[in-house]
Amino acid sequence: MQTPETLPNEVFELADAEVLERISQAKQSLGRDLLILGHHYQQADVIRFADFVGDSLGLSRIAAQQSQAKWIVFCGVHFMAESADILTDPQQTVILPDLSAGCSMADMARLPDAQLCWDRLNSLGSGKIVPITYVNSSAAIKALVGRVGGLCCTSSNAAGAIHWALERGERVLFLPDQHLGRNTAFRLGYPLQTMALWEPDKPDGGLTQEQLAKAKLILWNGYCSVHQIFREADVERIRRESPQTKILVHPECCFEVVQKADHIGSTAYIIKTVEQSPPGSSWAIGTEVNLVARLARRYPDRHIQSLSLVQCLCATMYRVDPRHLLHTLECLAQGEIINRIQVDEATRTDARLALDRMLEIK
Ligand code: 13P
Ligand code: SF4
Repeated sequence: MQTPETLPNEVFELADAEVLERISQAKQSLGRDLLILGHHYQQADVIRFADFVGDSLGLSRIAAQQSQAKWIVFCGVHFMAESADILTDPQQTVILPDLSAGCSMADMARLPDAQLCWDRLNSLGSGKIVPITYVNSSAAIKALVGRVGGLCCTSSNAAGAIHWALERGERVLFLPDQHLGRNTAFRLGYPLQTMALWEPDKPDGGLTQEQLAKAKLILWNGYCSVHQIFREADVERIRRESPQTKILVHPECCFEVVQKADHIGSTAYIIKTVEQSPPGSSWAIGTEVNLVARLARRYPDRHIQSLSLVQCLCATMYRVDPRHLLHTLECLAQGEIINRIQVDEATRTDARLALDRMLEIK
């Protein structure tokens, strides 16, 4: 991993208005060679400069279609920029404005631990296992999954991915988000007793031989530190205080919250649901605060609030701020590429298999 580029004092000390002005100038000077992508969870002063705003996979697909762009500045987190690098042409350069913008969930599945788990599950000889990895995972995990015949999924197509896997095998290993795996499988009709939780810091994942051998779905013990803040008590508070308010949550929320919510879906689904709702409707949304705040600004005729009273901010997304964007663009304008994300060739080839299998199920 490269060392994150530190911001020069000169950029650090600029007034906010000047930062925004200089980003506009740098963007203009780079013209069509530059493509700025902004994930839904980015802060407003970054999103205003994005050529496209979207979810992680949608943005990678856009990057792949915009072949005229030499430099793709991905305002999101590390795994998203890696996916963009895998899906774009080798002559396109993907840049993450702050290399320390990781994803705590993706970091919960490390390659040596996942390989150990995979080997252990296969040593049992109790039915073919097909692995699925949520796109919120490192390129190395995607490559492992791709190599052994598995696929990636997003929060929009996790159900299709589980179907795909169970048409080709008898059991599924689902990485790294236990909640997306559990919530999706339960909605597909698999009872909780058919699922086992693999805890990578325990020998044999903390499971007995019998538990391991009989589980239909083995869920990796990963979770999103932002979405786990939403609690059942938040749902109960909204139901009590405002019974007309509909509760709309991301499937990275825990099982109990998802069970009690009215609507469950990806960031794209959350946006579409609010967009299509009538003026005057009320929504309590269980996802990252920047997206909830943007929806509230965009639809002032609806009542939109976060499901939690605690601010659910993705701190790593937030590291990509206007100053880091400015420094990245000004370096590019001077011919210097900083904070490049480049997946090595072998990893790229195998990870691409897992991503391509996912793209086929859509
Ligand atoms: P999307 O796949 O909807 O972009 O969500 C990514 C994410 O990090 C959700 O926490
Ligand atoms: Fe990762 Fe959660 Fe942030 Fe999404 S919101 S990037 S899953 S830490």
